[in-house]
Amino acid sequence: MKTAMKWVGILLGAVLGLWVIVVLVLYSIGQARLNKKYDIVVGLVSVPAEAEALAEGRRIFRYRGCEACHGEQLEGVVYLDNPALGQVITPNLTGGLGGIGLQRSDQDLIRSIKHGVGPDGTPLLFMPSTEFYYLSDEDLGKILAYIRSVPPVNNQPQPSQLSFTGFVVMNVTKAITFLPAELVPHDQEAPAPPEPGTTAEYGQYLSISCMVCHGPALSGGDIPGFPPEWPAPPNLTSGAGSRLPAWGEDGFIEIIRMGKKHGRRINPDYMPWTSYRHMTDDELRAVYTYLMSLPPEEFGNR
Ligand code: HEC
Ligand code: HEC
Repeated sequence: MKTAMKWVGILLGAVLGLWVIVVLVLYSIGQARLNKKYDIVVGLVSVPAEAEALAEGRRIFRYRGCEACHGEQLEGVVYLDNPALGQVITPNLTGGLGGIGLQRSDQDLIRSIKHGVGPDGTPLLFMPSTEFYYLSDEDLGKILAYIRSVPPVNNQPQPSQLSFTGFVVMNVTKAITFLPAELVPHDQEAPAPPEPGTTAEYGQYLSISCMVCHGPALSGGDIPGFPPEWPAPPNLTSGAGSRLPAWGEDGFIEIIRMGKKHGRRINPDYMPWTSYRHMTDDELRAVYTYLMSLPPEEFGNR
């Protein structure tokens, strides 16, 4: 009996020991990924100064979702606060006290936006540069002009900090991209952006962010790895189960602008229409044209 107990004890100890080793290894892999230095040289873009370009920059900043994560005054907000993952906080982008505005060159900003890499060469957490890598120089220039023009706000957000388990989790969940910089094709030249217009090509340029939730084929379905309370993003192609063909272009524009239509109400906590509503009618037409040009997939065929 005594020897049996002893063996059970040894076994349990070994399992526990192994588990601790695995967790420690995952933790240090996470640390190494976050501290990796990326050597990225970026070119400059021309930054316009006219009031019209600044207003455009603000609009792009809003419909691309920057404002939702960085705050209405660019003052920095808590993006994620979860003991299991840590705290991810957006920096104050203005020139006020505690802001990074005056310390960053245009190249620093471009590197962060297009490559997801901070001024010290390390990757930024959750900054979705996989989408912004494709921004045209023109759009990027207007965004920079807008960031440089906002009134200074005094606010010193804490730096982002993953928790111990956050470093472990980032190595086990594939569904959530902690470090977009790892997925940006830094060495490849981004494809030439399409000319603005109500074309499917321009619609695709405006729709890169939709795929994160609606799936690579935009056919909707549950997002792998997301919490179960998330509603399944609907089918955005013209295939079976999609509401978009019946809504038509005007109905589509209306639902993105107002968040409701035909008895449907879209929850902005899950579907960021409050960002997309800042697109012009022509931009939303381009998005609709693009969606209706896609192969008609069945719902959920991700
Ligand atoms: C999903 C949320 C999200 C969106 C959308 C987003 N950002 Fe960020 N951004 C972040 C987070 C989080 C950080 C800080 C990451 C960190 O602390 O490692 C960040 C960092 C930055 C930085 C780096 C600042 C520095 O320290 O030098 C810049 C510049 C920036 N974002 C600009 C933008 C612009 C411009 C857009 C839109 C084109 C945008 N962001 C969209 C979340 C977001
Ligand atoms: C962060 C995830 C997310 C992103 C990004 C996103 N969506 Fe959605 N979308 C959803 C979810 C979830 C719903 C369902 C919301 C609900 O039922 O309240 C939805 C609903 C919709 C609907 C309503 C469709 C219907 O049949 O009711 C449309 C239209 C739509 N999204 C278009 C878009 C477009 C266009 C983009 C990109 C420009 C986009 N979405 C980006 C998550 C997202």
